[in-house]
This record gives sequence, C-alpha cells and structure tokens, in this order.
Amino acid sequence: MRTTHHSPGFAVTWASLIESGLIRTNVGLDRITTYKLGGPAQMFAEINRIADLDHIAAALAADPVPVLALGRGSNLVIADEGIAGVVIRLGQEFSRIEISQMVHAGGGAGMPQVARTATKAGRLGLEFLVGIPGSVGGGVRQNAGCFGQEIADVLANAVIYDFRQGRSRSVDVSGLDLSYRHSRVGPYELVIGANFRAQPGETEVGDERIRVITRWRRDNQPGGTLNAGSVFKNPPGDSAGRIIDAVGLKGLAVGGASVSERHANFFVAMPGAKAIDVYRLVREVAARVEKATGVVLETEIQFAGAFESE
Ligand code: EPU
Repeated sequence: MRTTHHSPGFAVTWASLIESGLIRTNVGLDRITTYKLGGPAQMFAEINRIADLDHIAAALAADPVPVLALGRGSNLVIADEGIAGVVIRLGQEFSRIEISQMVHAGGGAGMPQVARTATKAGRLGLEFLVGIPGSVGGGVRQNAGCFGQEIADVLANAVIYDFRQGRSRSVDVSGLDLSYRHSRVGPYELVIGANFRAQPGETEVGDERIRVITRWRRDNQPGGTLNAGSVFKNPPGDSAGRIIDAVGLKGLAVGGASVSERHANFFVAMPGAKAIDVYRLVREVAARVEKATGVVLETEIQFAGAFESE
C-alpha cells in the first residue's frame, strides 16, 4: 500500500500548521506518560488523517526539526526542560482494531486492547500483548515482548509513514529487522498500523491466558505505581532485575525516584519526582552493577530531551 504525498497547494510551514490548529505549542506531556513527569513539547500534533502527516512532512522538508513519535508513553522519560521539535501522537482514527483473517490495529491502539478484542472475537495467539501497556506503534518499534513472546512472533506486516518521503508503505515483518527490543524503524518514521496473525480458537481459552498474565504481573511487578516498565534490557542469558537485586540495590533512591522493592528492574517515581532523578538513578544503578559484576547494562526505556548536561 502506498499513499503519495498530497500537496496542500500552499507553502506549509510550522507557522501555518500552528495557525491551522494541527500543531499546538508548549504542550505539557506529563499527563500522557506513565511516569507523569517531564516538561512540555515545543510542538505537538495529534494525528487523525494521513493528510495531517503529509502536512507535517512538508513542514519538515522546509524546516527540519527533531520528531518524537509518542505512543502510550509507557516506556519513556521526558526531560524536565521538555522536548524541542515536534511530538506526534496518533488519535482515535489510528487506534481502531478490526478483525478479519488477521487482526488489524492502528498504531495508536493499546496492545492490551488488541489482546482483549482479538480474544473476544475468537482469535487466539495475541494474549501476551495484555502484559505490555504500550501502543501498537511503540510495540512494533521496540519489538516489545513478555511471557516468552514478542511482537516479531505474531506480526505479519506494519504500515509505516516516512516523513522524509511524505508517504506510507507496508513492510513485511522480515523487512523490519526485529530482534530483542530492536527494530529498524527510524526516527523519521511512524508506525501507523499493524497486521497480526492469530488463530481461530475459543474465547474462554484466551480469557484464561489473559487472566494468568494479569495475575502474574500483579504479583511480580509494581502495578499501581508511577513507572515505565523494565528500565534495562536483559543481558544475554540473564535478567537485569535479578542482577540489580543481587547487588543489593532494591530501595536505592535518587530524589523522588527509587528502585522498586517488588522488581529491581522497575524504577518507581514518587509524585513530584523529576525526570533528572530517574536519569541519575539509572546512571547510578548501571555504575554500581558494572563495578560489582562487570556487567554493562543497556537502557530499555527511552529518554527524550536533554539529560547529559545536568
Ligand atoms: N528477579 C529477581 N529480583 C527481582 C526481579 C527479578 O531475582 O527484583 C528474578 C526473578 O525471580 C526471575 C528473573 O529475575 O527469576 C527474571 O525476572 P522476571 O520473570 O520478572 O522477568 P524479567 O526478565 O525481569 C522480562 C521483561 C518484562 C516482561 C517479563 C515477563 C525485559 C527487560 N523485561 O522481565 O518486560 O514483562 O520478562 O515476561 O525483557 C518491559 O519490557 O518493560 C517489561 C516489563
């Protein structure tokens, strides 16, 4: 599928998109990330039409700025000073879930909703998505996973909008280069939809799998707190949570951020915590783990905006 760039017939600039209402400026992002902290986006757009993406592509071509694709904000720490450039989020029109032979989901749909909608329709195999509280777009970009499965196991293809070309294209799973928490979806690309493979089956069977996963998460992860899931990727053959725990870092705190007592690879923010607290805690834990064990942990959560200067 290809959608070619529709020229709007006038010079598109950021100023004209602000004038038209597509772009809002200085928009607080704290309420739309699970950590509920960090500063505003310099520019923010909620997208409900391909034409809106074409307009942003045109403005980017004339005046390039950084682009951040924001999903459910469940894996993200936004800097306290906010983010320069444009933050793009998919709205209702790109959050639909439809069932046919495959399960089609817009990039803005929540992965838990995909699991529940497919199960209800008697399509099984996607139940594990209930354990990943992100968007489909974020899940594809990160090849998210849980319970021994990952997006790569169930994805047929994704529809990706490329801001440099001003059009979307369908990419088979093999073309996405998915590996552990990695894809080749670039910073100027946006996952606007995905098609998942699922098998016909009984809703009750899927419902029971969903219950097992939600119960396991309740027992093993710090639900009900402000967090963004796993902070570090698991090193090959081991678990970051196990290592951080073994080094004795549960409860370690920097400002309003602390290592969860329930799962050591989850860092919990108190209300009023700063993004820089989370960042410094991440640096501190990585340094202590490396000193104690020699293991160099890599972050799994994404930091957006300026942190290094602090
Ligand atoms: N463990 C400890 N102490 C802790 C935490 C864990 O000893 O504080 C031990 C556990 O007892 C277990 C092992 O470490 O033996 C692994 O822990 P767990 O089963 O919780 O899995 P994980 O490797 O920490 C991964 C994913 C999670 C996903 C779970 C369940 C990564 C980085 N994390 O966690 O994904 O939910 O498996 O499938 O791959 C996420 O990506 O945000 C995320 C939460």
